[in-house]
Amino acid sequence: MRSTRRGAMGGVTPDRDPAGSIELARFAVELATGAAAEVRRALAALSGGDMRTDAKSTATDLVTATDRASEQWLVERILTARPGDGVLGEEGADRAGSSGVRWVLDPIDGTVNFVLGLPAYAVSVAAEVDGIVVAGAVCNVASGELFRARLGGGAYLYDQPLTGPRSVPLSRAVIGTGFGYDASRRARQIAVVAELLPQVADIRRIGAASLDLCSVAAGRLDGYFEAGLNPWDYAAGALVAAEAGCVVTGLRGREPSTVMTVAAGTSCATELTTLLEVLGADDVL
Ligand code: IPD
Repeated sequence: MRSTRRGAMGGVTPDRDPAGSIELARFAVELATGAAAEVRRALAALSGGDMRTDAKSTATDLVTATDRASEQWLVERILTARPGDGVLGEEGADRAGSSGVRWVLDPIDGTVNFVLGLPAYAVSVAAEVDGIVVAGAVCNVASGELFRARLGGGAYLYDQPLTGPRSVPLSRAVIGTGFGYDASRRARQIAVVAELLPQVADIRRIGAASLDLCSVAAGRLDGYFEAGLNPWDYAAGALVAAEAGCVVTGLRGREPSTVMTVAAGTSCATELTTLLEVLGADDVL
């Protein structure tokens, strides 16, 4: 149990918070919900008009003016409030900073869903202290749902504590996954899914990694894995899943990373990672 002490006025205050994670978690929520509101405003201003997209790494990896504006909004607020902090954002923000704190930002995770109007896209904000993620917030722009977590402080959907998925073996588990934007990588990824599908209850491809990870935390998926994610895709969501009591890991004893990120309930996590290792799911990049 987290230790607390009585404050001078009789309230309960945290004993120690050397990393400042309580304030970072509060600010992460402010940033994610604020940027989500900006994205909603930009969408309303388009009023059904055509959304212009540009291609990034491949013709199917899209970016819109709203992705860029959301990132700019986030970076401006961070550097105004905390000028010594670093930032890393999907749309190019990259600043080292001097405070030891770095913000890892996905201004719209699930850009293709955003372009199509599928209501599964999110603003994802994580705060690292000396390279460790200590706070994260993921706001589903379309629904407004806010997932948040603080290292050692639990995970929440709004104010409701999250405790991970139900207890099922892999054969009854619904597993989420995702695919990169490179065609040959996708061919290798779908070969893994073809082997996996007969061994699980079903597969989902939601299209926003941050929401996949939060869905495992909320018990909407029993597990999730993806190779090739970038830090902005998984930093906040991985903390939400871990703080909800899920196993969050890479394969072959490694940490979650760009090579492979797995999140699952404890009842099927070992079965899932063992099978993914056999299938070489981390050998697709
Ligand atoms: C993508 C989404 C998608 C995942 C891709 C990510 P983006 O992020 O999270 O679900 O499969 O790997 O790149 O490009 O929409 O920010």
